[in-house]
Amino acid sequence: MKKVLVTGGLGFIGSHTVVELQNKGFEVVIVDDLSNSSIEVIEGITAITNQKPIFEKLDLKNKSAVAQFFRAHKDISGVIHFAASKAVGESVNNPLLYYENNLNTLIYMMKEVLNLNTQNFIFSSSCTVYGQADEMPITENAPVKPAESPYGNTKQIGEEIIRDVCNVEPHLKVIALRYFNPIGAHSTAKIGELPIGIPQNLVPFITQTAAGLRDCLSVFGDDYPTPDGTCLRDYIHVVDLAKAHVVALQRLLDNKQESNFETFNIGTGVGSSVFDVIKSFERVSGKSLNYKIAPRRKGDVISAYADTKKANSVLGWKAKSTLDDAMSSAWNWEKTIRNL
Ligand code: UD1
Repeated sequence: MKKVLVTGGLGFIGSHTVVELQNKGFEVVIVDDLSNSSIEVIEGITAITNQKPIFEKLDLKNKSAVAQFFRAHKDISGVIHFAASKAVGESVNNPLLYYENNLNTLIYMMKEVLNLNTQNFIFSSSCTVYGQADEMPITENAPVKPAESPYGNTKQIGEEIIRDVCNVEPHLKVIALRYFNPIGAHSTAKIGELPIGIPQNLVPFITQTAAGLRDCLSVFGDDYPTPDGTCLRDYIHVVDLAKAHVVALQRLLDNKQESNFETFNIGTGVGSSVFDVIKSFERVSGKSLNYKIAPRRKGDVISAYADTKKANSVLGWKAKSTLDDAMSSAWNWEKTIRNL
């Protein structure tokens, strides 16, 4: 059994990826500082896979603790590095927190990976690196635009750090996955998204509104130059996204890379509007959603959806779930955690 380290493995995307890794026979070690996750997620993962992952509470900003962890796990054959802060608004108000949390930890991790016999690394990047791309759908060759937020900047700088290290480290192999908008939950409703406080993202806000936790969804702008006036995004089911990590890891393990640093867009290729998402929710839940039109949100791009040809042909991966599948799983999860 190959041992894989998953940092941030109790988070939203991390936990779903741990499930897919265990389903494929990998031995998973999770490290997580529990700053934005719950220890109970381990029970959900264990219930789904009949296998309890190894877990260590670890703050990756603690350089000596990270070094000590790696000394005890020299046999790791791949690292999937999710651990990072991800709230855009918070990053604007506290940029140093974001640069420290997302970049120091990346640097410490990479230094340790360079001491391993097998130096396979997967980095959680984001479509945010493209900003408002000039052309849709967005290919991996689209220029990286100045970041709209410190959070976005940590993803851009993270990729740059990795690229520079790959240039001089012949044994290091990295894949950066540029996620579009991950939504949904596991079909068992045993793991899902657990936003702290008021959700900033669309789908958890919708499900919490329908569950009675919020009064009304604000649709941020209906006067954009799009078919229905609301922004277009590429909403990808988190389980499809999780599976992309497994195939990317396998590519590294099989030494199939064309260069030692590769990037892939991970999305569905479909642009859905805010109204499309609301309609999908109403269709799958049978509920009507309370919403109102509000002013545009600062920093929102008009449109962002992926050209997924590279991931389809090179990784042999394709998103399978529809928007309705994802919304239905998100709603099941919300109902489960609220006992509805
Ligand atoms: C956001 C981040 C992105 C990050 C991603 C993580 C910004 C500008 N971008 O993407 O960097 O990688 O989350 O998941 O924050 N909307 C509403 N009402 C709401 C919430 C959202 O109308 O209450 C709209 C937004 O205007 C947008 C769409 O829904 O058009 C999606 O918003 P959201 O879920 O926050 O994702 P992004 O902004 O695309």
